[in-house]
Amino acid sequence: MEKGKKQIVMSGIRPTGFLHLGNYFGALRNYVRMQDEYECYFMVADLHSLTTHPDTKELKGHVHRVLAENIASGLDPDKAALFCQSHVRETSELYLYLNMLAYKGELEKTPTFKDKVRLQPDNVNAGLLTYPVLMAADILLHRAALVPVGKDQEQHLEIARTYANRFNHRYGDVFPEPQAFNFGQALVKVPSLDGAGKMSKSENQNATLYLADSDDLIRKKVMKAKTDSGPTEPNSVKPDYIENIFLLMNLVSEKDVIEKFESDFNNCVIRYGDMKKQLAEDMVKFIAPIREKAESIRTDEKYLKEVMEKGAEKARKSANATMEKVREHMGLVY
Ligand code: TRP
Repeated sequence: MEKGKKQIVMSGIRPTGFLHLGNYFGALRNYVRMQDEYECYFMVADLHSLTTHPDTKELKGHVHRVLAENIASGLDPDKAALFCQSHVRETSELYLYLNMLAYKGELEKTPTFKDKVRLQPDNVNAGLLTYPVLMAADILLHRAALVPVGKDQEQHLEIARTYANRFNHRYGDVFPEPQAFNFGQALVKVPSLDGAGKMSKSENQNATLYLADSDDLIRKKVMKAKTDSGPTEPNSVKPDYIENIFLLMNLVSEKDVIEKFESDFNNCVIRYGDMKKQLAEDMVKFIAPIREKAESIRTDEKYLKEVMEKGAEKARKSANATMEKVREHMGLVY
């Protein structure tokens, strides 16, 4: 690596659904921390969403929302390149070249493809099959070394590594091998409020706190979290659903508040009603400012347009530099 040059980070988020606390603590907060130390490319994957959502009536609104929620959570368009996938046409060119290095048999074996076939048997389009090729193009286009993604995307990243190596082997070294990346500590998992699994975009919406939830909705969801009548033995092991409430408190509450409830639990005098009320208020205090900021950004189309233009310009510059190398190495310069 050249001296003084920042390492390149790239990631994408599909514009489907609303962002929730799991996205925030599991991913977004880390992206925000990366902005200063890395050259970051963060993208709204609108083309990927076409593989599952061919109807584009609501796409613009979703793109705006996702961008607004990301900026409200701390992503800074002056630091990172925040852009929309379809604004960088070079992606499609690299996608085409990578398709010649992608084997049908391999793609058909990808578990996410098999899942989608099951979910949408009437729309098994080629874009769905080559979803990982497009994702590899997103990453390799910037010659990114580091890709912050959740567990569910690790297989796609593995495929991107395969194509990087295949390309390099066939045409000469252009791409670094992109690696999964957690910034600092291990990824935070945000448990859902019903004690089952983690907060998620599509499942258990009543047990997931979204950045767009109103104060009252946050209170209602938190108060519904599962509890019991409390421990009867001092210093008991916490049942999962109680441990989860403590985990959530750890994300948003003050230390002394958490210590009080820990000690109440250990002394068998905990009142879960009070604990949930406290958690609800602390969640409201945490989420409300993000929600309000996101809302004012979301409705400012002029600002969003500027952000996307600036981001796309940065992304295209990096993409062009890569594509010149790609064409040259492939012998497509006549
Ligand atoms: N496939 C990713 C997801 O579903 C989104 C994505 C698209 C992405 N392109 C990417 C993630 C490039 C990381 C890098 O979440």
